[in-house]
Amino acid sequence: MSLTPISGRLPDDRSNDSRHKITTASLRERKLHREPITCLTAYDYSTARLVDEAGIDMVLVGDSLAQTMLGYENTLSVTMDEMLHHVRAVRRGVKSALLVADMPYGSYQIDPQTALANATRFVKEGGAEVVKIEGGEKRADLIRRIVDAEIPVAGHIGLTPQSVNVMGGYKVQGKSLSGIEQLMRDAVALDRAGVSCLYLEGIPREVAAMITAEIGAPTIGIGAGPECDGQVLVFHDILNLTFGPPAKFVRRYADAAALITQAVQAYSADVRSHQYPADEESYHLSKDTKAGLETVLDRKRAMRR
Ligand code: KIV
Repeated sequence: MSLTPISGRLPDDRSNDSRHKITTASLRERKLHREPITCLTAYDYSTARLVDEAGIDMVLVGDSLAQTMLGYENTLSVTMDEMLHHVRAVRRGVKSALLVADMPYGSYQIDPQTALANATRFVKEGGAEVVKIEGGEKRADLIRRIVDAEIPVAGHIGLTPQSVNVMGGYKVQGKSLSGIEQLMRDAVALDRAGVSCLYLEGIPREVAAMITAEIGAPTIGIGAGPECDGQVLVFHDILNLTFGPPAKFVRRYADAAALITQAVQAYSADVRSHQYPADEESYHLSKDTKAGLETVLDRKRAMRR
C-alpha cells in the first residue's frame, strides 16, 4: 500500500470548484444556445477526477473499456458487474460533469424487465445519472419504459459497436439513401421516446447535420462531423494509449504512451544503478532513537567478544 495521499486533500474537499453541476437540462440549454457539449470517456477514479476537473461536461463510462481497460477483442464480452465496478470508481471522481453509464451487450436485449433492473443497478449501485443504450427505433419502447422509471437514457445510433457481427465489421453507416432514411427514422423515434441525448457514431457529416437539425435532443458525435451539438472521444484515443493506428476521426492531443514508457525506463534504470531511492527519499530514525539503537548494538557487539 502507498503512503502517498492520492489527493493531497480530503477526497470530498473540492471547495475551490466553482463549476455548476451539469444535468440533462443543461444539455438541452446548450443545444438551444448552440454551445458545444464536451464528452470524454473515463473508466477509473484518477482519470475521472482529471477529466472532470479539466471542465468536461459529460463523462461516459463506455463499454469501450472492454478493449481499453480489460484487453477484450471487442465490447461484446464485458459484463454488468465489470461495468459497475468501473462506474463506481468514476462516480467517486466526478463532481460536476454528467455521468453516463453504457449498458453492456446482453444487459438490455433479452427482455424489458431485465433491462430495467440493470438500468436501475447503474443508478442505485453505480451512481450513474444517465444510461446509454445502442440501437435505433427498435429500442424506442424500451427507452420509454426506462425513462418512465425516472432514469434518463442516452441513445446511440449509426456505427453501434455491439452490432459488430451483424454489421460485418466496424463500418460507417448511413452512406446509402435507404441507410440515411433508416438513421433519420431511428433518430426521430428515439427523440420521441425521450432520450436525453443521442450519440451519433460513424456516420457521414451531412447525415449527422440533418439529424441534429431535426431532433430536440442534443446529438453527441464521434466520427459524425462538426455539426453535432457535442463531441465525444475515447480518453485512450486522444492520448495514444490504444496500441494501434487511430480511426480517421481521432485527434491525438498527447503521447501518453511515450511519456509512460520513458518514466518506467528511467525508474528502472535508477533502481538498477542504485540511484533510487536517495537518502532524502528514505525515512529516518529520530536522533534519540538512533543513539539508543547504537547503544543497544554496541552492547550486543561487546557481549559477543
Ligand atoms: O463505449 C464508448 O466509448 C462509446 C463511445 C465511443 C460513444 O460508446
